[in-house]
Amino acid sequence: MARNENGRIALVTGASRGIGKAVAARLAADGLFVVGTATSDDGVRAIDAHLGGTGAGVRLRLDDDASVEAAVQRANDQFGAPVVLVNNAGTTSDGLLMRMSPDAWGTVLETNLTGLYRITRPLLRGMTRARWGRIVNLSSVVARMGNAGQVNYAASKAGVEGFTRALAQELGSRHITVNAVAPGFIDTDMTSDLPDFQKQAMVVRTALGRMGTVEDVAAAVSFLAGDGAAYITGEVLHVNGGLYSG
Ligand SMILES: NC(=O)c1ccc[n+]([C@@H]2O[C@H](COP(=O)([O-])OP(=O)(O)OC[C@H]3O[C@@H](n4cnc5c(N)ncnc54)[C@H](OP(=O)(O)O)[C@@H]3O)[C@@H](O)[C@H]2O)c1
Repeated sequence: MARNENGRIALVTGASRGIGKAVAARLAADGLFVVGTATSDDGVRAIDAHLGGTGAGVRLRLDDDASVEAAVQRANDQFGAPVVLVNNAGTTSDGLLMRMSPDAWGTVLETNLTGLYRITRPLLRGMTRARWGRIVNLSSVVARMGNAGQVNYAASKAGVEGFTRALAQELGSRHITVNAVAPGFIDTDMTSDLPDFQKQAMVVRTALGRMGTVEDVAAAVSFLAGDGAAYITGEVLHVNGGLYSG
């Protein structure tokens, strides 16, 4: 399998579509070899096709211990230990708290927050050995802003930000940085189901007057994953077009 010039391998979760797909392409363009994950074989094949010789797809479900274990093993054995980890995969299950089922709460927390624990922990050994690493976690503007109907999602993303700050403290001495990117309102499958009037209402509140693109977010992740961000850790970089600045 082809390797990149600087020998760095990145693992990007949820690289089959949306922000993760753009992040994978951007990191590959930056010269990294990118292992992207998807929950299905079709998704894995799509990543293989999208990345060509600059990366590969592996199957991963963040809400399943065995699946995470197998994916990490496969990435390590087949491609080498990732030193860049982009925790991008995420899910929503919206509804008012009064009507929110335990399943809707559990799925979102299991994937967005416990999934972060599952996938990050086994990858620390490789970064520690390399004495270099970059971890970039996808949060959301709603971690700070809140959003009616997204108590589970907002709680999971606020957790992602706390995880980021605490882990940054643990890993600084090993030259491993841990940061988060908090997108605002980005045009992907996650937002495509919203009714037009809600999208318009969000755009009106956004200073730059448009939804964000997946490339807007990928550019921020690329910066934090690179050498230029060596002295930044424990930070949350907001990519929301001025929807919120807190
Ligand atoms: N879009 C926005 O406006 C927005 C705003 C703020 C934050 N974010 C955050 O940015 C990240 C990417 O969002 P997106 O809009 O690109 O999402 P998306 O288009 O819905 O894609 C979600 C990705 O996550 C993967 N995924 C879902 N559940 C998973 C699970 N249980 N285990 C492993 N992978 C799973 C999906 O894989 P499959 O394709 O195999 O299903 C897919 O690749 C998420 O963390 C999201 O919370 C998005």
